Amino acid sequence: MTRVIAVASGKGGTGKTVVTANLGVALAELGKDVTLIDIDLAMANLELVLGMEGMPTTLQDVLAGEAKVEDAIYTGPGGVKVIPAGLSFDRLKSADPDLVKDVVAQLMDKTEFVLIDCPSGLSKITLVGLESAEELLLVVNPDISSVTDALKTKIIAEKLKTQLTGIVVNRWTKSGFEMDRKEIEKILGGEVLAVIPEDPEVKKSVSFGQPVVLRSPDCPASKAIRELAAKIAGVEAKIEEKKKGFFSFLKK
Ligand SMILES: Nc1ncnc2c1ncn2[C@@H]1O[C@H](COP(=O)(O)OP(=O)(O)OP(=O)(O)O)[C@@H](O)[C@H]1O
Ligand SMILES: [Mg+2]
Repeated sequence: MTRVIAVASGKGGTGKTVVTANLGVALAELGKDVTLIDIDLAMANLELVLGMEGMPTTLQDVLAGEAKVEDAIYTGPGGVKVIPAGLSFDRLKSADPDLVKDVVAQLMDKTEFVLIDCPSGLSKITLVGLESAEELLLVVNPDISSVTDALKTKIIAEKLKTQLTGIVVNRWTKSGFEMDRKEIEKILGGEVLAVIPEDPEVKKSVSFGQPVVLRSPDCPASKAIRELAAKIAGVEAKIEEKKKGFFSFLKK
């Protein structure tokens, strides 16, 4: 069975692409078969975060009817599969957003997880992305504008029969001026599955085009993302920690 999860927010820059990339790699580390799709055609970033820019066939080509889905799937860091949006503007005009549904349909039963990195706002392609998924993962920053924009996305998603699986609170700073977990859960009517702190390692990893969970596996953001992956996959992160401890004991 394939779980299709739209990673969306409402407001821009909350961390959707960073979460999609790293959650994908963390799920792959748990042994899951994961396919990531970047549907942010205008501002494609997923391939940059994963260090995979310049792939010859991309989602743009598929949505323009010029290529098959399988030709646009590449294996990325940690074994995660990726359909990049493509950085060129060549096919942007001829790309048909509705074909995103067909792309997702063709992945059914061929992979365990499809994570769709949605653009911010509620453009046509975001709506198609939300509709193509069964589950919604909201990525918010702990401030009121980010949370209220996410609520709009959740309401639209539910109209499209896509249910909220959980909320990721990203860029937590402990400044004392942020919304707390309970408040966010109350407004959005869902569970906060992870709180990812503001972490300089995330910015560094983005500049190097390497997922933070691989580049800095022990930094606070990576730990939070691995716990998120474990929750989503239904596996306890602690089990992995225990295993790690056991293997380092054996190595010693
Ligand atoms: N936990 C974090 N700690 C520090 N910096 C972060 C964190 N999460 C994200 N960032 C920074 O924020 C930037 C924007 O993140 P990202 O591109 O994932 O947002 P987005 O929601 O996908 O944006 P858009 O709406 O434009 O698609 C990243 O390039 C990174 O530099
Ligand atoms: Mg993005």
